[in-house]
Amino acid sequence: MIESNFKDKKICITGGAGFIGSAIANRLFGIAEITIVDSLIPEYGGNLHNIEKIKDHIKFDIADVREKDVIENLVKDMDYIFNMAGQTSHMDSMTDPHTDLEINARAQLSILEAIRQHNPKVKIIFASTRQIYGRPDNLPVDESHPIRPVDVNGINKNAGEQYHKLYNDVYGIQTSILRLTNTYGPGMRVKDARQTFVGIWIQKILKGEDFEVWGGDQLRDFNYVDDVVDAFLKVAINKNANGEIFNLGSNEVITLNELADALIDVHGSGNYKIRNFPEDRKKIDIGDYYSDYSKINELLEWHPSVNIKEGLSKTLDYYRQHGEHYL
Ligand SMILES: NC(=O)c1ccc[n+]([C@@H]2O[C@H](COP(=O)([O-])OP(=O)(O)OC[C@H]3O[C@@H](n4cnc5c(N)ncnc54)[C@H](O)[C@@H]3O)[C@@H](O)[C@H]2O)c1
Repeated sequence: MIESNFKDKKICITGGAGFIGSAIANRLFGIAEITIVDSLIPEYGGNLHNIEKIKDHIKFDIADVREKDVIENLVKDMDYIFNMAGQTSHMDSMTDPHTDLEINARAQLSILEAIRQHNPKVKIIFASTRQIYGRPDNLPVDESHPIRPVDVNGINKNAGEQYHKLYNDVYGIQTSILRLTNTYGPGMRVKDARQTFVGIWIQKILKGEDFEVWGGDQLRDFNYVDDVVDAFLKVAINKNANGEIFNLGSNEVITLNELADALIDVHGSGNYKIRNFPEDRKKIDIGDYYSDYSKINELLEWHPSVNIKEGLSKTLDYYRQHGEHYL
């Protein structure tokens, strides 16, 4: 069991009340000593229900990683930091670019500086994104693909990951970077489409309402959240992953229409309308995308194990039971 490597280790998860951060916290609960820091800004994906079962038994700071003092206290004594805090909305990064810059770039540099000064032995894993590649030149996209972000979020996430890489290479701080593709599962924001369109599809289908598919022919790969947690844990404990950047992805490449059909199939009913991309979204859409994740597969034997239908089924089950806390 990979989790046993974290026994009695001190772990900090920035953005730990969010979708993926809370899944890491729930996985390591009872094994590691967990500290979560999360600003719980309402527009983002943080949700106290994500940590409902564990929140009274962990250290939970409602605080902002943009604050220097918060960060300095946080990094001290930690063995691992899962650095998940981020502004994730692509549209918000265009309408409010400075907030995106502050969280996704400047705060990341502050975290790394605090580590360099106060805890240079820690291992930190950064949640980056496939968005930084922009519109792919070729498919599948591997880690050597040019970085050509199509939105402000992509530029700032790229800066965030490059700081992590630099602090590894120059200062010997142990950092690893995962470039995530579309991640879905229990705990994601379904109130609206701010985090992912899959969220709003799930909300609508559970309410018995039609949902919208924009475009529909775009190819994408999806990871179920448990598989993504596995990748974070594997990268954390392996020294060969230090200073490395890894794509996550899936061999199950499907169009958005096929994803919508799978969702309806798993739910047993539902309907969607195909709509043209709104102009403002089209400009920052990356078109077809799927990853080549052979690097992490070869080095760490990571591969996704939950297929789309199984993952959608588990996700729908979760929101059937816990929907009131998310909708
Ligand atoms: N979910 C995906 O499909 C996906 C894809 C690519 C990359 N990522 C990256 O993974 C990370 C986690 O994403 P997620 O899907 O769990 O999103 P999320 O919004 O659910 O989680 C992010 C968390 O960070 C917190 N946060 C934001 N700004 C903060 C700040 N200044 N200080 C403290 N906390 C702050 C939010 O409150 C939220 O709980 C993000 O960095 C994101 O860019 C996610």
